Amino acid sequence: MTNADISKIVDTTDEWIVERTGIRARHIAAEDETTRTLAVQAARNALAHAGLTPADIDLVIVATSTPDSTFPATATQVQADLGIARGAAFDVQAVCSGFVYGLTIADNFIRGGQSQCALVIGSETFSRILDWNDRATCVLFGDGAGAVVVRAGKGGGTNADRGILGCHIHSDGRYCDKLYVDGGPSTTKTVGHLRMEGREVFKHAVINIAAVMDEAINKAGLTPMDIDWFVPHQANRRILEGTAKKLGVPEERIVMTLDRHGNTSAASIPLAFDAAVKDGRIKQGQLVLMEAMGGGFTWGAVLARF
Ligand code: UT7
Repeated sequence: MTNADISKIVDTTDEWIVERTGIRARHIAAEDETTRTLAVQAARNALAHAGLTPADIDLVIVATSTPDSTFPATATQVQADLGIARGAAFDVQAVCSGFVYGLTIADNFIRGGQSQCALVIGSETFSRILDWNDRATCVLFGDGAGAVVVRAGKGGGTNADRGILGCHIHSDGRYCDKLYVDGGPSTTKTVGHLRMEGREVFKHAVINIAAVMDEAINKAGLTPMDIDWFVPHQANRRILEGTAKKLGVPEERIVMTLDRHGNTSAASIPLAFDAAVKDGRIKQGQLVLMEAMGGGFTWGAVLARF
C-alpha cells in the first residue's frame, strides 16, 4: 500500500508522510494471511538459510503484539505448523522492542544450557489493530515477519566470536499510556485499536535508543566506528537520523527499510536485517548492532557478529 493508496482512505499526502517519517509504502497482509502464517514463512526461510530443519529447533520465540488469538501463543501454532513437538515455545510481548527482547531471552536460554537452537521470529499484522480513520497512526504501520536462528557454539569469550555478544533491555512502565491499544480481553473484551502520543514517543525514542546504543557499545569496549552495521527498529527516519547524530554514527552504516515496509513493530529489525544480507551489505563476520524502542516503554539493543 503506497502513500498514494493511503491518501484515498484518510486526509493525508505522500509529501507529509515522506517528510515526517520517510515511509513511502507498507505491506498489508492478505485476508488469508495472519501473524501465524507470516511467522511460519519467515521461520522456513531462516531455517533454509541456516541449513537446518525444524528437527534442530528446541526453542521457538515469537515476538508479536498482534497474535492470531489471545491464546495459545502464536509460537505454539508456529511449532505445530513446522512439526516441532519438543522444547519450548512462547510469545514475547514488548511491542516494537519485541525482537530485541526475544533475542535476549534466546541468548540467555542458550547461555544457561536450557536450549541449543532457537528460532526467534518477529511477526505482526498491525493493519488489523489500526484505526483506519486516524491519519496520525494508520499511515505509519505495516505488516510483515522476519526470523533468525540462534545456535549454541563454543567461542573464546571475546568480541571476535560469532553470534550474540551483548544484550541490553529496559522498560519504564510509567509511560505505558503513551503508546497502547485501547482494548483487551480483561477490559473491553475486544481487540481495540492502536493509540499513540506521537510527539512524546518520538522524544523518548531518540533519548532511549541513543542511550542503549551507547550502553551496548561501551559495555563491549567498542566505539561507534567499530560497528559495521546498525539495524534499528524502523519507526521514523527522523528518529534514526537523530540518534545517529547524537552518537556520531555515519548514516551510510544504518540499514533503513522503513521507506518500503513502514513500521512493522517486532518484525522490523529482522526484515531490515534480511534485506541487508540479501543485497550483500551485511556480510558474515561483521558486527551488527540492533536497537529498538516501543510501547511500555520498552527498549533495548543487541550486539551480534553475523
Ligand atoms: O514504533 C514505536 C515507536 N513509534 C514511534 O517511534 C513513532 C514516534 N512518533 C513519530 O514518528 C511522529 O511523532 C509522527 C510521525 C507520528 C508525527 O509527526 P510529528 O512531526 O510529531 O507530527 P504531529 O503529530 O505533531 O502533527 C503535526 C501536524 C498536526 O497538525 P496541526 O495540529 O499542526 O495542524 C497533525 O494533525 O500534522 C498533522 N498530521 C497529519 N497531516 C497529514 C498528523 N498526521 C498526519 C497525516 N497527514 N498522516
